Amino acid sequence: MSEIKTIGVLTSGGDAPGMNAAVRAVVRRGLALGMKVYGIYKGYQGLIDGVEGEDIRELRAKDVSDTIQKGGTFLYTARCMAMMKPAGVKKAAETCHKYGIQGLVVIGGDGSYRGAEKLANEGINVVGVPGTIDLDIACSDYTIGFDTAVNTAMEAIDKVRDTSTSHERCSIIEVMGRHAGYIALWCGIANGAEDILLPEKYDYDEQKLIDNIIDNKRRGKRHHIIINAEGVGHSASMARRIEAATGIETRATILGYMQRGGVPTATDRVYASTMGCLAVDCLAAGKTKRVIAYKYGDFVDFDINEALKMEKEISEYQVLIARSLSHNYYKNEAEGRETED
Ligand code: F6P
Repeated sequence: MSEIKTIGVLTSGGDAPGMNAAVRAVVRRGLALGMKVYGIYKGYQGLIDGVEGEDIRELRAKDVSDTIQKGGTFLYTARCMAMMKPAGVKKAAETCHKYGIQGLVVIGGDGSYRGAEKLANEGINVVGVPGTIDLDIACSDYTIGFDTAVNTAMEAIDKVRDTSTSHERCSIIEVMGRHAGYIALWCGIANGAEDILLPEKYDYDEQKLIDNIIDNKRRGKRHHIIINAEGVGHSASMARRIEAATGIETRATILGYMQRGGVPTATDRVYASTMGCLAVDCLAAGKTKRVIAYKYGDFVDFDINEALKMEKEISEYQVLIARSLSHNYYKNEAEGRETED
């Protein structure tokens, strides 16, 4: 039997589809191992406020019924500034001690892991689970919500493409991702976009973009889809400049928060369930300061400090193939020249 008898679970930072599946897994795996499980509401803020029955509630198996298929997080979430200060961390630790919470599962992004690390220094066993649509957690090749967000954005972009074709327009579609271009890159490939602007790669050479659009039109394409990452931004002003320079009607669409909601895909549900269980198993094994990750096809755990120091790079090969598959960038790579077809 595990030394850990009581655990808590919270979701923190931006919500992501699949977070409910992860919470459900934590609760049911914890119960299966004979633990008492508390749900902490509104992220770290709930832990700091600590009001019983409001911020902290014991969760039983039936409390997580009918949640796996739902978007958002039924525990709610917050970006908690108070947790960045020692006084907030102390209060959060006091709440854990008050309820006998020995282990805490934190579902969120890098910022949430930093809070978890501080709590670990106060004697609480912590395990992080990667929950963010942005896929920007360096230690993990998968983050909960990314798959659903990409699918949601992809469907929306298909629709924008229909109307762009009808009107012979250029469309700049901005997708989320904060400083990372993963959603943009995946949508760019999945939607067959003509151009993809990634914060990691964009050289801000707008003339090159304009030349591509004109070239594309000359080849008879009725639309030109540009997927722009949030980290590049400025889609509306870019659209105005492109329209002025090309004479082609250009519209900007910012997809925004719709990407964070909706029914989680099977991938998000299954990976979130697996990661939630593994987080509890880590606590049960006496581990602390760990983060769960999916790396090279396996579910693993890393030291939180090591994980926070890791750096992630966007796949050069995916960037290359995105360019290679886009019609206007089609290049005869063997001869190193642009083709005309
Ligand atoms: O981290 C998820 C995310 O949706 C980012 O893509 C975006 O930059 C950010 O959250 C928006 O944050 P907020 O919900 O605080 O506006």
